[in-house]
Amino acid sequence: MAKTKEKAVPVTETLNKQVANFSVLYMKLHHYHWYVKGENFFTLHPKFEEMYTEAALNLDTIAERMLSLLTLPTATLTEHLKIASIKEADGEETAEQMVKSLADDFDSICTELTEGISIAEDQDDQPTADMFIAIRSSLEKHRWMLEAYLGE
Ligand SMILES: [Fe+2]
Repeated sequence: MAKTKEKAVPVTETLNKQVANFSVLYMKLHHYHWYVKGENFFTLHPKFEEMYTEAALNLDTIAERMLSLLTLPTATLTEHLKIASIKEADGEETAEQMVKSLADDFDSICTELTEGISIAEDQDDQPTADMFIAIRSSLEKHRWMLEAYLGE
C-alpha cells in the first residue's frame, strides 16, 4: 500500500502547500464576494463569505499543526503565491465563472489532500491525516454544491 516515492515527500511540505492554498483562496473568495454581480448576487455574496470564513479557519488550523510539529509555516503573501497551486482571481470573471473556478479549486485541493493523507499515514502522522480528512470532507461538499449550482 505504501508508496516509496510518496514517502520521500515530507509532511511539512504538503502542509505548507495547503497553508499557501488557503491563504490565496481566502483573498480570492473575498474578491468574488466583493465583485460578484447579477441576479444571483444575494445567493453568492453570502456563500463566498461563508467559504472565506472557513478558508481562514483551515489556514490557521494547518499552520498551527505545522507549529505543533516544530516546523514553520510560510507567512507572507509573496511566498504563498509562489507555493500555492491555486491561482488568484483575475478580475474578469462572471458569476458563473467564479463558481466554476472555485469548484475546480476545491477539486484540485481535494486531490492534493488525498495525497497528503497518504503521506501523513505513511509517516505515522495520524493527527495530520485526520485534519486533512476533515477538510477534504468539507471541500467535497462545497464542490458538490457549486457543481449543482452550475447544473453539472
Ligand atoms: Fe462582506
